[in-house]
Amino acid sequence: MVSTVDDLGLERATGLIGAWVCNFELGAPGNPARSGTLLRALSEHGVLFFDFGRAPEAAEYTEFAGLFGNVQAVFGQQVKNQDEDAVPLIDSRRMPMKEHLINRWHSDGGPLEVPPLAAILTPYELPEAGGDTMWSSMYAAYDALSPTFQAMLDGLRIVNNNKLASFLEPKEHIHPAVVRNPVTGRKCLFYNPNYTECFVGLTDTENDVLCRFLTEHINTPEFHVRLNWKLGYVAVWHQQVTQHRGVADFTGPRKLKRLTVDGAPLIPANG
Ligand SMILES: [Fe+2]
Repeated sequence: MVSTVDDLGLERATGLIGAWVCNFELGAPGNPARSGTLLRALSEHGVLFFDFGRAPEAAEYTEFAGLFGNVQAVFGQQVKNQDEDAVPLIDSRRMPMKEHLINRWHSDGGPLEVPPLAAILTPYELPEAGGDTMWSSMYAAYDALSPTFQAMLDGLRIVNNNKLASFLEPKEHIHPAVVRNPVTGRKCLFYNPNYTECFVGLTDTENDVLCRFLTEHINTPEFHVRLNWKLGYVAVWHQQVTQHRGVADFTGPRKLKRLTVDGAPLIPANG
């Protein structure tokens, strides 16, 4: 029997972004139809939330991530084995949010020629309060612009690099300012405050004004969903359809494990 998005028992988290997947058990056998259904839901909703009731074991976490594509341990590297240590840890003590620009809107791998498709995140240790993660819908951000502004952005390209992130190996790539999701056919704003240095062909003044406007625009609450983490929650987000940020309002340790899956070449707005 062909599985459909309806089989996942989706409950929308907000009006514009995010859905809880209520009909899915950790360890459920994967198959191409199931993966296709999950990937369609991910493209439609931008971020999927799961409540497995307990923190997943390393092997089952990697297996779960594999439902969404080819799993990378870190960008560009394959998972060598399924040891606990193979899964990268986002540890607030080793990677303070503010110093690592985690509490600013971004999508991961922005300066790469082919950014990862999705990230999978789950907590292993949480502060007593705070430390939420937020996502912003880049469908909603694009759709809220006037047709005239959309047409201008559709034809622009952006320089994405990690000059602000001195802890990363320097990388730069030129991307479309707007990309099209191949599953839904919808357009997404691909400008990214952490990684977009400028728009190709604009003057410094034009760039300054446009970047400030888009950074503010992404921060519109109607485009957002926010997760207050509990052990056993897993979030999966689409890196082109959404941007994300942490909320640096906590003290004490905060440890999450993140996996990423390979992306495909970006499709420009009019491609
Ligand atoms: Fe990130």
